[in-house]
Amino acid sequence: MQLERPAPSAPPVLADLYGGQRVVVTGARGFLGRAVCAQLDRAGATVLPLGRAELDLLDRSAVKARLRALRPEVVVHCAVDGGGLGWMRDHPVESGLNNVLINVHVLEGAHEAGARAFLGAGSACAYPRICPVPFVEDDLWQGYPEPTNGPYAQSKRVLLDLCRAYHAQHGFFAMTPLLANLYGPGDHLDPGRAHVVAALLQRVIRLPAGAPLEVWGTGTPTRELLYIDDAAEGLLSCLALSEPAVLNLGTGMEHSIAALAQAVLDAADHSGALVFDPTKPDGQPRKCLSTARAEALLGWRARTPLAEGLRAAVTWYRAAEPPR
Ligand SMILES: NC(=O)c1ccc[n+]([C@@H]2O[C@H](COP(=O)([O-])OP(=O)(O)OC[C@H]3O[C@@H](n4cnc5c(N)ncnc54)[C@H](OP(=O)(O)O)[C@@H]3O)[C@@H](O)[C@H]2O)c1
Repeated sequence: MQLERPAPSAPPVLADLYGGQRVVVTGARGFLGRAVCAQLDRAGATVLPLGRAELDLLDRSAVKARLRALRPEVVVHCAVDGGGLGWMRDHPVESGLNNVLINVHVLEGAHEAGARAFLGAGSACAYPRICPVPFVEDDLWQGYPEPTNGPYAQSKRVLLDLCRAYHAQHGFFAMTPLLANLYGPGDHLDPGRAHVVAALLQRVIRLPAGAPLEVWGTGTPTRELLYIDDAAEGLLSCLALSEPAVLNLGTGMEHSIAALAQAVLDAADHSGALVFDPTKPDGQPRKCLSTARAEALLGWRARTPLAEGLRAAVTWYRAAEPPR
């Protein structure tokens, strides 16, 4: 139904959406949360950042009380108990249980506090493991996600369904767009929690000149990468929708792990070869989101070319983590 409307000719202007608004951001010191806070600041919002030190989102009554006291107009939920694939594999309980609780507490608290909208960061990992590529929103429920991050993915699905329920029952504008894998300046430095690009970047900047870069798996699975500032802009732009929608936020560009690893080498001006280790797991075979609905409903598309984003990330990693 919504797709039949003419596509907006330009992406939303964040200052029009957020200027003068009181906006709570959870996970405000995380990778995405910091980028969201920076964009809200530039848009003229009154940003009310929450980190774990200020408020433990696992504490339901504390979340309700704090949100009521802060009186936000909008809540942007970027907190997550999460990490890379290795962390998910070793912490299936925390990755499911804690995230269900955190998500539910913030959504419930935002509604009870009288906010007019809730925007929660969702993830492409909520899609079925085997899904036609590019992933379109209507296929979201057609199978079980990649089992390595099953409970985490299910926590994202619970939030999706509860957003739908809050809108249906209370008319509350609640949505959780599905974000592709993120990369860019400010990503995790802890190798145990790094995603694919962060893991490759961290290794490549430490390699001696000309040394080979070892890559887990066969190099054939595909991934999509969304630059951090594009992700923050896309997430915040969702407030421009006339009603909440299930919506992908990605680039629509699918890269093999081998091509990605080569792009990382190029961004770092590293001349070493790629060496694949097929004894290590490949993970989900293909991942790439359709961007058609975001373009049709929001007029939004990611702006940052991969090579440009990787160069910015390399510069940041080199400054944050000098070679040993
Ligand atoms: N990174 C990606 O590639 C990616 C891809 C798709 C979707 N997403 C989604 O984007 C969102 C943000 O991801 P991210 O990469 O920015 O994560 P992140 O860097 O790990 O940040 C998450 C933040 O959540 C906070 N947090 C965790 N447990 C908490 C608790 N119990 N109470 C209060 N705060 C808590 C942490 O606060 P402290 O720092 O204070 O501990 C942390 O700063 C998540 O929903 C994730 O699923 C991320």
